[in-house]
Amino acid sequence: MERDASPIGVFDSGVGGLTVFREIARALPHHSLIYLGDSARVPYGTKSAETVTRYTLQAASHLLDRGIGMLVVACNTATAAALPALRERLPIPVIGVVEPGARAAVARTRGRVGVIATEGTVRSKAYTKAIRLLDPTIEVIESAAPLFVSLAEEGWANTHVAREVAEIYLEPLLDAGIDTLVLGCTHYPILRGTIEQVVGEGVSIVDSAETTAACVLAAVGTRSTGAAKHTFLVTDAEERFRRIAGDFLSREIEHLELVSL
Ligand code: DGL
Repeated sequence: MERDASPIGVFDSGVGGLTVFREIARALPHHSLIYLGDSARVPYGTKSAETVTRYTLQAASHLLDRGIGMLVVACNTATAAALPALRERLPIPVIGVVEPGARAAVARTRGRVGVIATEGTVRSKAYTKAIRLLDPTIEVIESAAPLFVSLAEEGWANTHVAREVAEIYLEPLLDAGIDTLVLGCTHYPILRGTIEQVVGEGVSIVDSAETTAACVLAAVGTRSTGAAKHTFLVTDAEERFRRIAGDFLSREIEHLELVSL
């Protein structure tokens, strides 16, 4: 199969990467996609970089066996921990979510960027490194916002509870004078409305799902035509995935398989 026609693999620790999947499907409506959510081992955000790297390499190897021509690591934690190892070992292009988000932040900021992400991503300082590689004068303040993941999965993104949690998480970043905020976790775009209300118009939001899809589109071009097949693979709890993904993507989830890595 030609590389252009090969499906793109989209990997995440669970359901959160559907935010990235949705943007890629919008950007490349004729391209087949295989989504793999490691629902048996989610969350990645609280695990060590070594464990996350091992899990991610296993997932990538499974997707390679299915003939993908490009891998998108939709999970910020997996990108932060495993991108160099993936790029070293995989014979296909690998796109992570950190670089596109960092580039968008650098393009927009007036000098002070806030990043919210999982504990693992914050610990790795992947966003700080990526942003400062592009512009060492930019100040980056990273902060973990783990409760946003549960709020998004619970369907509580637009509740007063989410708003209060957002105020608590974002206050220190606002006090530090950030002008740009990177949503550095798959789930956070689901809370974007609430986050925008709390940070106000003075802070520009970088959604790493959108910026990653733009990067994938640029890498692939728009050559595919015809019908796209969307296949979903999970490592556990496929009925939960079917429900959440169906609600999130507003359609029936066909082609869903339980796999072991
Ligand atoms: N997908 C993860 C990320 O973007 C969030 C969920 C998890 O901790 O596994 O960092």
